[in-house]
Amino acid sequence: MKRAFLIGTVTVVTALTAVAVAVGPDMLAGYRFMDTLDRHFVSYETNGGAWPQIQDSCALCHGVNGQPSNGQYAALAGQPIPYIEAQLHAFAQGRRHSPQMGPLAANLSDVQIKALAEYFSRQAPNTTEVPEHDETLTQRGQATVSARGCTACHGENLSGGLLGPRIAGQGEGYLLDQLKALKQGQRQDPSQAMNAMASMLSEDELSAVAHYLAGLKPSRTEFPRQH
Ligand code: HEC
Ligand code: HEC
Repeated sequence: MKRAFLIGTVTVVTALTAVAVAVGPDMLAGYRFMDTLDRHFVSYETNGGAWPQIQDSCALCHGVNGQPSNGQYAALAGQPIPYIEAQLHAFAQGRRHSPQMGPLAANLSDVQIKALAEYFSRQAPNTTEVPEHDETLTQRGQATVSARGCTACHGENLSGGLLGPRIAGQGEGYLLDQLKALKQGQRQDPSQAMNAMASMLSEDELSAVAHYLAGLKPSRTEFPRQH
């Protein structure tokens, strides 16, 4: 009995090692993540409620309640529900590429995606990581944002509108990565509006915009709940 168990365990460990070698670290990170997720489910179920605590697993990278303090990571707090949902589906289907988010999103059900989007949308947004102030960059960023009318889609306070997500108070590193990806086409906005906008801006303008936006305090926007 004990020996059979031992042999079973050894087989599983060997198989997992082989899988890990074959699929590489990205998949393994995804696997570990799903394992954590499963354990969360079990522990919450024993505590009498399965939902919506799944979001705790996102805190490692996106911060507690979806508000990170590291400017390389995306803040999810206060984002419009449809935006979060759309991004999770895009990661899951490989339309938006990310080694971290791809395997993770592919393992979420539609119901989980909806619940996560509703949860993070409800959380109070804050500034992620205020960059060391650079007056020249700030002024150039502000001038670009007002000249290009970013508020038309991203909302009056750049904290999320009906057409675009919150960009105020996102981290400088995250913003610049995304703006470059949109400019160069690695990230595709389904409406193409943001690809067009980013490609009109120079690399210097993108850096200035990211710097300016990262220092803004986001405000709370009420989005209509989706059913
Ligand atoms: C291991 C780190 C990690 C974990 C854990 C993680 N994420 Fe992410 N997430 C990222 C990274 C990195 C990106 C940026 C991807 C890119 O460069 O496009 C991202 C991007 C996102 C975005 C898009 C944000 C935007 O503004 O466009 C959403 C939505 C998201 N994650 C949701 C989640 C949810 C929900 C969970 C938990 C179920 C989660 N993430 C867990 C690393 C992580
Ligand atoms: C015509 C509408 C429109 C205008 C104008 C616009 N955007 Fe966007 N923006 C979008 C949409 C839509 C998305 C989401 C794309 C997607 O779904 O992948 C987006 C996404 C972004 C993102 C990525 C956010 C994230 O969380 O990953 C940044 C950064 C951004 N916009 C900055 C700007 C800036 C800066 C301006 C002005 C210079 C601007 N946008 C003007 C529609 C617009």
